[in-house]
Amino acid sequence: MGKLENKVAIVTGAASGMGKSIAQLYVKEGAQVLLADYNFDGAKEVSDELNADGGKTEAMEIDVSKAEDVEAMFDKAVEVFGTVDILVNNAGIMDGFEPVGEITDERWDHIFDVNTKGVMRAMRKSVNYWMDNNKKGVIVNVISTGGLNGAHAGVAYGASKHAVVALTRNSAFMYAEKNIRVNGIAPGAVETNIGSSMTNMSEFGFSRAKLTHGLSPRTGKPDEIGEVAVFLASDDSSFVNGTVIVTDGGWTSGF
Ligand SMILES: NC(=O)c1ccc[n+]([C@@H]2O[C@H](COP(=O)([O-])OP(=O)(O)OC[C@H]3O[C@@H](n4cnc5c(N)ncnc54)[C@H](O)[C@@H]3O)[C@@H](O)[C@H]2O)c1
Repeated sequence: MGKLENKVAIVTGAASGMGKSIAQLYVKEGAQVLLADYNFDGAKEVSDELNADGGKTEAMEIDVSKAEDVEAMFDKAVEVFGTVDILVNNAGIMDGFEPVGEITDERWDHIFDVNTKGVMRAMRKSVNYWMDNNKKGVIVNVISTGGLNGAHAGVAYGASKHAVVALTRNSAFMYAEKNIRVNGIAPGAVETNIGSSMTNMSEFGFSRAKLTHGLSPRTGKPDEIGEVAVFLASDDSSFVNGTVIVTDGGWTSGF
């Protein structure tokens, strides 16, 4: 029996990279999954492959920075699968490595709308759903080592991910007696398509951040994050609540 048998999960950003891997591993463990992504064709392709193999998944186009899309995502999962047990907030984008002296208000707002506000809205919707229905729930936030350390990207990305660490820890404590667990994963450098969201790169910011990247022993594979997401969503982690698991091959233990 799979570790997520009869569970229903929503995975945002499931068309690519770590979200795709998380969706695939969840299905392997018996979960039904709503693959929610800005890139509908990509999500549909992953979903079709999984369904052809006997999986039960559905793809949906959403922009996590839009309140109505986040609401619709949750409603769709309930409509298609009857409930939601697991929420994985994975969708996210990079900045252009800008230090504070170079960040524009527009870039700051966009990064926060996607990486932080979208996560808050999905968490708000799910905890209220679980409490209203007297149900158990699990949230897994895919954060970043940049949420715990100073300069793995630009200031906006780092601040947006630090805020998700706070969302994770605060919510874990707040709902600890409500049968809801909230944890995060802080991946180091992982081989995905996130580079495509890096635009208008700051030469100065990148020259500083790359000093820290130079110490990373190796890059990770998406499945190496996906396996941690399986652990955090399953009862194997039943006493783990409010933590952020650094998954970086030892990179940030050095500083
Ligand atoms: N790759 C890394 O090295 C790394 C390291 C640490 C943390 N992360 C975090 O991991 C998460 C997953 O990123 P990834 O590396 O797999 O990147 P990726 O670009 O391969 O996948 C991200 C997915 O999110 C989707 N997405 C982006 N904006 C969206 C939006 N507004 N609404 C809905 N979907 C949206 C994209 O279409 C894409 O399918 C992100 O939160 C990222 O910040 C990545």
